Amino acid sequence: MIKRLTHTDTNPFFVCSPADDNFYKLDTDFRIVPQKISEIKDELVHSLIKNNLIRDKVQIRQIELIEQGLINYVFSIDVHNRSIIAKHAKDKARARPLMNINADRLKAEYDAIMLFRKFVNKHNFPDPILFDNVNNILYLEKFSNDYLCMEKLLTNGKVSLKLARDLGRFAAMVHNKTSQCKISFDNIKMIRQIKIPWIYEGITKDKEIKCKINGLKKQLLENKKCLVMGDFKPNNIFVSHDNFIVVDYEQAYYGDPVLDFAYLPASYIALSYLNPELQGKYIKATEEYWHSYLNRIVIENMQERALQHLGVILLSRIDGITKYQFLQDRNISTPLRKICKGLILGKIDNISVLLGMIRK
Ligand SMILES: Nc1ncnc2c1ncn2[C@@H]1O[C@H](COP(=O)(O)OP(=O)(O)O)[C@@H](O)[C@H]1O
Ligand SMILES: [Mg+2]
Repeated sequence: MIKRLTHTDTNPFFVCSPADDNFYKLDTDFRIVPQKISEIKDELVHSLIKNNLIRDKVQIRQIELIEQGLINYVFSIDVHNRSIIAKHAKDKARARPLMNINADRLKAEYDAIMLFRKFVNKHNFPDPILFDNVNNILYLEKFSNDYLCMEKLLTNGKVSLKLARDLGRFAAMVHNKTSQCKISFDNIKMIRQIKIPWIYEGITKDKEIKCKINGLKKQLLENKKCLVMGDFKPNNIFVSHDNFIVVDYEQAYYGDPVLDFAYLPASYIALSYLNPELQGKYIKATEEYWHSYLNRIVIENMQERALQHLGVILLSRIDGITKYQFLQDRNISTPLRKICKGLILGKIDNISVLLGMIRK
């Protein structure tokens, strides 16, 4: 039996309702096969035993699939006194079986986490247990339930200016510290296989804009400055009091820091439309993040390039594969699309001007 994905099966923001075929015309194979999940669970149990994480199946109290991203199968596993996260990769995306993505991406994620933990405060990263390279499973210690997903907080209008400043400082530190040493880490194929096709392509038919975006893609592929987290967005950030943990590094690569710098502002701006009466707070947070990063980054002043990338990332939330349902209202999408195009063309070259236009 084949079950179509529904809103509750995946990120609630992504437009993937079976009620509207237009929204996933790129792959009519938007489906999961329940049988597969139990097969993957069996594989997981076998791997847990083989890697000495458990002695016997009976030690497992619970295995639960975390219905989250579109690419991997992520499970939470409770074993008597321990909770483990297992991230399981196939050579394709979970919700987009027509797109091939190499399963060894999780080995790169493991290596990236180890590197980040070496250079930056390790409390901001997950704690890796091991990588099973036979089954392509990455095991991590599960962090406490006190950590709340930043995307949920922003959705509920909980916008922290301190967190925005801390995240700006954190991203600048990640980039500064990893730019000063020789690091043998590449993983550029994930930029080619995920980031570019999912975010930078299929978002416009306008020739002039496409041409500009080609230049921006080239920057991502050719600039080699530091370690880049690759998916620095609120659903990968978990917050508890003054602490935060950033997860999800399969798209981490040695490359262009502009990607991380521009990613979070696109989310702050997009999510601000969920709470129009509080939009000023989201805008202030964007500003705080922006300046906190720029005041510290020593690699390059990438302000102008970042605004162009921000235009692309935001446009992908309106018109791309990972577009958001709540931006589809014409009163929002029409002016926002225009702003994105202005950004990509380099016509808006200042963050204050951009935020002034969003506020209107
Ligand atoms: N170490 C961890 N502890 C607790 N929860 C985690 C941990 N790592 C991941 N998760 C949960 O699993 C979800 C998916 O993990 P993530 O690495 O982002 O995978 P994906 O690439 O599928 O988005 C996260 O959004 C979070 O809810
Ligand atoms: Mg994720």
